[in-house]
Formats: sequence, C-alpha cells, structure tokens
Amino acid sequence: MSCPNIQTEMVHAGIHNVKDTPPYVSVPKVPPIYMSSVFSFDTVEELDAVYAGEAPGYVYSRNANPGTDATAAMLAATEGGESALVFGSGMAAIVASLIANVKAGDHIVASPVLYGGVYDYLKNEAARFGVETTFADFTDLHAVEAAMRPNTTVVYTETITNPLMEIFDIPAIAEIAHRHGAKLIVDNTFATGCVCRPLDLGADIIASSSTKFLGGHSDITGGVAVSSKENIKAINRSLALYGAVMSPFDAWLMARSLRTLDLRVARHSANAQKVAEFLEKHPKIEKVHYPGLASSPFKPLADKLFFKVRCGGMLSADIAGGEKGAAEFIRNAKTIKFVPSLAGYATTLSYPAKTSHRAYNEAELKAAGITMGTLRFSIGLEEPEDIIAEFDELLALI
Ligand SMILES: Cc1ncc(COP(=O)(O)O)c(C=O)c1O
Repeated sequence: MSCPNIQTEMVHAGIHNVKDTPPYVSVPKVPPIYMSSVFSFDTVEELDAVYAGEAPGYVYSRNANPGTDATAAMLAATEGGESALVFGSGMAAIVASLIANVKAGDHIVASPVLYGGVYDYLKNEAARFGVETTFADFTDLHAVEAAMRPNTTVVYTETITNPLMEIFDIPAIAEIAHRHGAKLIVDNTFATGCVCRPLDLGADIIASSSTKFLGGHSDITGGVAVSSKENIKAINRSLALYGAVMSPFDAWLMARSLRTLDLRVARHSANAQKVAEFLEKHPKIEKVHYPGLASSPFKPLADKLFFKVRCGGMLSADIAGGEKGAAEFIRNAKTIKFVPSLAGYATTLSYPAKTSHRAYNEAELKAAGITMGTLRFSIGLEEPEDIIAEFDELLALI
C-alpha cells in the first residue's frame, strides 16, 4: 500500500483564506491573534497597491500586523493620541522615538532623573552617534531654558520620574521646547493615560514601557509610542528598520490587559495613597516620595495635571539605616517580592541604586537624590490593609 502524501496535505490544508470566506453572521467575541510573519498575494498588482497604501492589507509583520495594529489603536485611545505603534520593549519605543527626531550634530535636553537605561542611552550611546545631551534640573524652568541650544531638537522627560516620583510642569516645558523648535517626548510609563495625558498638555510624543502598568501582569515585555500621524510615520520607519517589533502574541495579551487598565490604575493609585500616608508617619522611614501626599512639593502640580486625584501606583521611601536598613527590609519581605521591574498586580519592591539606576555613579546618584536607603515600591491590587500590615511587620524588624 502506498503511503499517502500527508506531508504535502499538511502544508496546504486548513488555510483560512479570508478572501474566499463567505461573510459570517457570527463574530468572535475576542479578536484573533494574527500569528503570521507574512501575508500572501494573488498578483503583483495587489502587492504594489498595498505597499503604496492604495489597498488595505499587510505584507510582512516586521512592518505591520493586524493584531499589533489593533492593540496600537487601543493605546492611542488610552493616551489620547491620533496614532500609535507598539514595540518589543519600552527601550525600543523610546529609542525609536528619539532617533526619529535627531541626526548627528543635534542636541537633546533631558532631566537627570530618568529610568537608568534611558540615562545610559542618552549619556553613552546617543553620544557615540554625535548626539549630545544636556541634563538639566526640570524642577527649574530657567535651567531648562538655559540648556536649550539652536541645535536642540528634542526635550525628554518622564511624567512621574523613576525612582523619586517627581512631577514637572509639562505645559511650561512644552512651551520652552516649541519656542526653540524642539519636540517634547514624554515617557508616561509610571502614570499611563489613566493618570495623565501629556499629549493634551502640549507634549508631542509619548514613548512608554508597556511592560509595566499597560501590561500589568508581569508577563509581557513591550513599548508604545503615541503621537500625531505624521510623527508616528517617522517613528515607524525606525521601528521597521531596527526591527524592534512586538510579537502578535504579546500584542494580544496587551489588548486583554488594556480592557482593565483604568480599573487597575484607579486601585493601584488608591492603595499607593494609603501606603504612602502610613509610611510617612512611620519612625523607620526617613522620607516618602509620593506626589499624592499633602506634604509633597509636587502635590500642586499633581492636582493641576493629573486626573481624578490619581497619582499612580509607584512610590519610593528612604528606609532608616541606609543600605543596611534596605537590605534588612528586602531579606525579611514575604509577599512583597524584590523584583527589578514594576507595575504588576502584586506589590513588589526594587532597589534603584542596585537595579534600574545601576548606570549612575555615586556622584550622579547623590545629585539625583537617590540614596542607598531608597527603596522603590510598586503598590499592587491587594486589600490595602494587608499591604500595610506587611510593611508594618518588616519595618519593625529594622
Ligand atoms: C520609566 C521607565 N521607562 C522605560 C523603561 C524601559 O522599559 P522596558 O524595560 O520595557 O524596555 C523602564 C523600565 O523599567 C522604566 O521604568
């Protein structure tokens, strides 16, 4: 008996040709994952029309994919932008947004208190390609103004800074940037569009990590850029050429996460406010960095720029005893896991001087206000009294 050509059959069977499929009367409740690296065409003319933007369709998933486009559209809505792109990581989104707006000889003005990876990129990597960065104190608008040069094309900052939760006057900084012909790029990772929408405040581009609150479950790595169609077109060129693409599966998980973003961010914010108020009164805490506290120098700006009295789920605290106190807190922690990331559903902690801000030398840490006792907390979705009880227990052991 001859063996059937199962291999050939398996190559050709089960192909769902959307062009030949009659319209269904039923619709899947959840959009599918387009786990296809490439798309097929019947004719060269069809391919040409898609490339030219004259016919709807897709060619290759490094350039665009229906699933990742759908997720990007959701992110444009959360951030209040015209158009969006998703990336394989936050760093990819930030770097693509930067390089789409600089060339050799250009200049960037940035806050020195930034996620350490971006600080490293600006200080060491962009400099290799002839792009210089001046770090200026963004709490001082005169310092920002003084740092601007005729060749400044980008001003860069975070809505809520990592790790000290500073807030800057985005409308005033946007005005300075625009007056000098530069674009303002804002990393909205710690806030998300559910706390603040920098695009509505004058920023030109949002470039954020979606590994954090946007994903929210500590299971995907991703990034997002949101802006006008024109800006996104330029950033898309960097995305495609550098290949910093998000996988269709991660995009699908991201879409699922975004369905509950607003609910999660409201709860993270309410819980963080309660924990910050508890820590502020604790004798083993030297300082709490949270813009929602009445004592925070950033509270007036939070009231002006943020929504619904939400200040997000991130806070930092300087533990008594410096490095020894911080190490003791980490060693005894039970459910509050020491993870060098943030913004999952569970409360976690990180040690900025040893993780996210490792690229800072001792003097840079000091200038930024990050001490060896500074621990950064990502406050989760648990009942607030349970989170506070563990903090109380751990601080008693120091
Ligand atoms: C504020 C901020 N921006 C950007 C990033 C980089 O994001 P990713 O790790 O997704 O590349 C991080 C990472 O921790 C971050 O905290």
